[in-house]
Amino acid sequence: MPAYRFAQSLSRLGTEGAFEVLARARELEAQGRHIIHFQIGEPDFDTPDNIKEVATRALREGDTHYTPAAGTAATRAAIAEYVSRTRGIVVDPAEVVVTPGAKPVMVGLLLAVLEPGDEVLCPNPAYPLYESITSWVGATPVPLPLREQNAFRVDPDDLRRLITPKTRVLVLNSPHNPCGSILTPEDLVAIAEIVTQHDLLVLSDEIYSRILYEGEHASIAALDGMRERTVLVDGFSKTYAMTGWRLGYGVMPRPLADAVTRVMLNVNSCTASMVQRAGIEALRGPQDAVSAMVAEFRRRRDVVVDGLNAIEGITCLRPQGAFYVFPNVSAIDPDGKSFAEYLLYEAGVAVLSGTAFGRYGRGHLRLSYANSLENLQEGLRRIASAAVAFRARGA
Ligand SMILES: Cc1ncc(COP(=O)(O)O)c(C=O)c1O
Repeated sequence: MPAYRFAQSLSRLGTEGAFEVLARARELEAQGRHIIHFQIGEPDFDTPDNIKEVATRALREGDTHYTPAAGTAATRAAIAEYVSRTRGIVVDPAEVVVTPGAKPVMVGLLLAVLEPGDEVLCPNPAYPLYESITSWVGATPVPLPLREQNAFRVDPDDLRRLITPKTRVLVLNSPHNPCGSILTPEDLVAIAEIVTQHDLLVLSDEIYSRILYEGEHASIAALDGMRERTVLVDGFSKTYAMTGWRLGYGVMPRPLADAVTRVMLNVNSCTASMVQRAGIEALRGPQDAVSAMVAEFRRRRDVVVDGLNAIEGITCLRPQGAFYVFPNVSAIDPDGKSFAEYLLYEAGVAVLSGTAFGRYGRGHLRLSYANSLENLQEGLRRIASAAVAFRARGA
């Protein structure tokens, strides 16, 4: 075998805990173990039939060719209309870039705007991509702590304190993965003021905008003066249970849209044509499957939160969005990592440690409740016994 030489930058590119734990859980399953999956980052529902039918029809009609790099005119128009309606802003289709999932928009943007040495304020704990890509391009991720005492929301004082002359981008994610927290309209106003004052760009990851249990989703893009400095990211993976289809988009000022499109053109050429057709149906077709999914998630959230809070040594806030809980297990394991491993190997429950999302996730676990009520209840029973056994082991 030749000695492969890799670019130094590759060592700065991270991985994702969810995929790693899934691989380990699958190995255990191959050995005959029964595992309850709490690590999953995708809805356990099927894509609604109306969406599948449109994609099938598109295939039959020969919609199987390249499209413009930023998406078809029809897809961009449908997204512009949807984002205008749901965010209360006016979006021109030319400001929309359609991509294979929400991830590529974020990667494209960071590649397009960052220089080595620039700083990016990334919520912490958070989705690993933000820090990983920032580091990969040679810029510096600066953790913006989301503290449990502050309901895992951004504290404007932290934001002010961490901005330096090198800060270029602030990443926001509401509703939030892994904490399920949301930024309130007041938080957004306070953040917008600081961002404007320091001339920053905001990457607003709103992929969970429809998986919300109270109130209406608010986007920072809707605030005065924020449109021109916000890249709003959303997609179809979570809302329409379409993770495997790979369809997402960004809405941003024209010059940024052109830059991100240029990156995308080089990487993907375009997003799959029949998938774009399906996306139009998702946005314009019936929405009852989304409402039913969110109602079911809410029911499960309550079961999981109540179940976790009933376990000695575990406390858990009630999330307002997404499909994750982020319980505090520091009374059982100050770090959270050993308990997460114990749960997988000894109790057959696959969870992620909070530190898989950054150092401020210490002492926590992330559980996804995108699983059947029956499995969730069995998982909770296993966690309760494991908590007792794990503590006894340390005693
Ligand atoms: C916060 C967040 N942003 C973006 C994504 C990626 O979504 P997509 O499947 O559209 O690339 C995820 C998926 O888990 C996520 O949790």
